[in-house]
Amino acid sequence: ENGILMGSPTSMASPVILSQDELKKIAAYKAVEYVESGMVIGLGTGSTAKHAVDRIGELLRQDLDTYPVVDLAIDGADEVDPFLNLVKGRGGSLLREKMIESACKKFIVIVDESKMVKYLGGSGLAMPVEVIPFCWKFSAERLRKLFEYAGCVAKLRTFPENGEPFVTDNGNYIVDLYFKKDIGDLNAASDAILRLPGIVEHGMFLDMATTLIVAGELGVTIKNK
Ligand code: 5RP
Repeated sequence: ENGILMGSPTSMASPVILSQDELKKIAAYKAVEYVESGMVIGLGTGSTAKHAVDRIGELLRQDLDTYPVVDLAIDGADEVDPFLNLVKGRGGSLLREKMIESACKKFIVIVDESKMVKYLGGSGLAMPVEVIPFCWKFSAERLRKLFEYAGCVAKLRTFPENGEPFVTDNGNYIVDLYFKKDIGDLNAASDAILRLPGIVEHGMFLDMATTLIVAGELGVTIKNK
């Protein structure tokens, strides 16, 4: 069910302005209420997911070879559309997260309200694509061409301090895609990206989240798929 669980400004004596990190913490703590003893839990990365990790405390991070079915994964996201499709990977992790989160029975996404968008790419921020380093410029150009209709700009992710490429936990590079317009059919976009040789994975997590917890100034909203 969907619902506002916390008080609204009208029910509070004086409105409390919460920081973005406080909102992330509220969403994360709410998600941890779904954790039951004996569950196999998938844990994501990022500042929101870190609050969930801290809250759960001592957890064993088991891998998929041992536990092919994860009961519950909890993770943050960079963008969430109205259908619970996500952009992830702005923090640099997406492949391993996608492997675990696609294998779990329940995937709870925890965000503060700034992450909600009308359509993926709509924040104007990066949509990450993990590519193998070999001929990355070629891959970046093919990605840009694929989304030329949406005004795509493709940039290799680098460290600002030295211009060196960011390297993922799998030894790959990240090409960040920026769109000026809605890219449209997300499944078609996903298929087209994954058909390009040299592409490892992209940051669109489509039809994977089962529950969304959003913390905003007016309270916590929970949406189930
Ligand atoms: C890492 C991710 C994170 O989940 C995403 O970037 C959200 O991070 P945060 O909770 O710090 O805002 O996908 O690559």
